[in-house]
Amino acid sequence: MRLGVLTGGGDCPGLNAVLRALVRRGVLEFGHEFVGILNGYEGLMEPRLTEALTLDSVRGILPKGGTILGTSNKANPFKYPERVDGKIKEVDRSDVAAKRYRELGLDGLVVVGGDGTLSIGHQLAEKGLNVVGCPKTIDNDLSGTDQTFGFDTAAGIITEAIDRLHSTAEAHQRVMVIEIMGRNAGFLTLEGGIAGGADVILIPEVPYRAESVVRKLKDRAARGSKFSIIAISEGAYPAGGSVAVAQAADEIPGRGVVRLGGSGKVLADLLAPQIDAEIRVTVLGHLQRGGTPSSADRVLATMYGAMVLDLVRDGRWDHMVCLRDGKLQFTSLAESRKERHVDVAGDKMRMARSMGISFGE
Ligand code: F6P
Repeated sequence: MRLGVLTGGGDCPGLNAVLRALVRRGVLEFGHEFVGILNGYEGLMEPRLTEALTLDSVRGILPKGGTILGTSNKANPFKYPERVDGKIKEVDRSDVAAKRYRELGLDGLVVVGGDGTLSIGHQLAEKGLNVVGCPKTIDNDLSGTDQTFGFDTAAGIITEAIDRLHSTAEAHQRVMVIEIMGRNAGFLTLEGGIAGGADVILIPEVPYRAESVVRKLKDRAARGSKFSIIAISEGAYPAGGSVAVAQAADEIPGRGVVRLGGSGKVLADLLAPQIDAEIRVTVLGHLQRGGTPSSADRVLATMYGAMVLDLVRDGRWDHMVCLRDGKLQFTSLAESRKERHVDVAGDKMRMARSMGISFGE
């Protein structure tokens, strides 16, 4: 078979590991041929954005961050950004993608991405293309799977960052706020916050009350702890307030969703008048997506990349690989449309609360 493959949405550690596994198993076991489609769906829309993916081109890429195919989160064929009468508008150009798929002589298309990329894959499958998917995102917010690759690496980076903030927080007796990615899900903040020993963890699933955070900081100070660490999700917001938006959706044609950012500063401004300690805000940003994947992410990405070929072999188009209860399984691509959220009554939250971590409730 001749299979197209693309990586879409925000990059994350493990994408290259998927490509390597896919091509190795695809060539060695099935004799498939792979066409790499560059820059996410942009490569299906614009000419000359393809290159052969061979055993040679995937050699040595396992530990590399990013993606050798490039990616984009602004190239949705169903809402493709185009200049119309001097203004950028989103136009349905999915017919162009379908035509290009046929021109490239593809028998199938493997899309590796998060909810945006996978749900576009589902829409293309509805137009008759043979699409299968592989779930990635540092946010871990896809309902179809218990875990996406990229999450473990990002959680490790967050943990190390919090460790480093501890020493400077202690030296200056400050309150350190660390703003963590994850969009509207708090998985990264909860995981990194617990692993890094944060005193307060604020996630989108639990709108926080500033008074409650102030109380926690004062309690700590009264017990002799002169510094505190607050881990806050970019999507966290005060009860009765709204999320901090860095860029509105209509300012980013082709993307379809807002870009979050600024929740740490919002919190610091609410706390500052009520506490004596100095506050500093660190926005961890794209450091969370960069660099080499952890061993757990390399393994998960490798399993996903190899396993997606079972879907191709069985002609189970419009499906993706996933992990459920520790087992590799398959689910429909349509599942990727639903967001997954932290279970606020789950074990991690319960245990964290029981040992005094504040969620600003
Ligand atoms: O989905 C991954 C993610 O890193 C989110 O956590 C974050 O909100 C977003 O992407 C940032 O997107 P961009 O790279 O376009 O700034």
